[in-house]
Amino acid sequence: MDRYAEPTRQVYEGWDEFYSRSVDDKLDSFRQNGRIFDVIYAQQFDREFLDYLCSLAEKIRLLAKTKMGLGKLKRLLQHKRAMLYFVQPSTRTFLSFQNACYTLGLSVSEIRGTSTSSEVKGESQEDTIRTFASYVDLIIARHAEAGFAEKTAWVLNQTERPVPVLNGGSGPDQHPTQALLDIYTLEREFRNLGGLDGKKVAMVGDLKRGRTVRSLSYLMKNYRDVTLYFVAPEVFRMREDIKSFLTKHAIRFHETDDFESVMPLVDAIYLTRIQNEYAEHPSSETETYPAFHFKTKHLTMIQPHCALLHPLPRRYEIEVAVDKDPRAAYWRQERCGMWIRAALITYIFRVDQVILDEFS
Ligand code: NCD
Repeated sequence: MDRYAEPTRQVYEGWDEFYSRSVDDKLDSFRQNGRIFDVIYAQQFDREFLDYLCSLAEKIRLLAKTKMGLGKLKRLLQHKRAMLYFVQPSTRTFLSFQNACYTLGLSVSEIRGTSTSSEVKGESQEDTIRTFASYVDLIIARHAEAGFAEKTAWVLNQTERPVPVLNGGSGPDQHPTQALLDIYTLEREFRNLGGLDGKKVAMVGDLKRGRTVRSLSYLMKNYRDVTLYFVAPEVFRMREDIKSFLTKHAIRFHETDDFESVMPLVDAIYLTRIQNEYAEHPSSETETYPAFHFKTKHLTMIQPHCALLHPLPRRYEIEVAVDKDPRAAYWRQERCGMWIRAALITYIFRVDQVILDEFS
């Protein structure tokens, strides 16, 4: 047998049956020729892939600094088109993907609300999805529905135009490319301290509905000797699915609602906002949970190397004056998003080797 032949694909009855399966069962469905093709869940990434993507992002970043390097990047994917289907609010994820596409020469089209697409005329989700694929070579989707990006990939993988799909945020479930940029940021912040291996990381805020902390938690299984501290009010504690995943993979985690007690212990603090758009009555959720905010007075309580991260947007979680402290990594984190997403797109279109060749 040709060792590069595709493994026989599992056949499913339909979308509902497929969606109900465990992620482990479905991982092969989003691979092609031994590589990740659609990016749907954080569980798709292993250590080798994460290390590779971070090193690729560093190289793209370096190339983009010069006119000649940027010119080479811009010629890589001039023949490709991408579609940003972002029907949930977004600033950073949208702009960073858009600019990653521009850097690599892709043309970009966008839909930013269902009210302007034919879904309002009664078109089925499946037909809308196939229509997107008719015009572009890559779909990046953000949707309030947890399974939308997955469904897009699943539908297209059964058509004659299975273009790759990247999940730019699937409701309160996952945000795998944010997790990539979070890992890239942590590895960079700890580059003189041996990277993320062996570090203690606190995740703070709405851990129940925050997709970024959920995806990032999955990625921790790829790092040695990491300890997590889940710091949340009782109502927003991390869900059982993540906790049982961590237990299964022998990743230490502690849960507490005492933020100040954790501050001196950790190497990184990842703050998040209350995700009240997922509440039944969003405007009735007015509590701001100040015990889970990081103030300037806390700067003396954390370690000299402690990195402060936040996926942004920020509300009250970090006092603005904290931005001046060199340990505030969230603005650097934001920029890392553009580079790691550019790296991911070169990988998906198999032009990553061209970048490596520039450095050989
Ligand atoms: C996050 C998101 O959309 O989940 N934002 C982002 O993509 N950087 C976090 C948030 O909205 O709180």
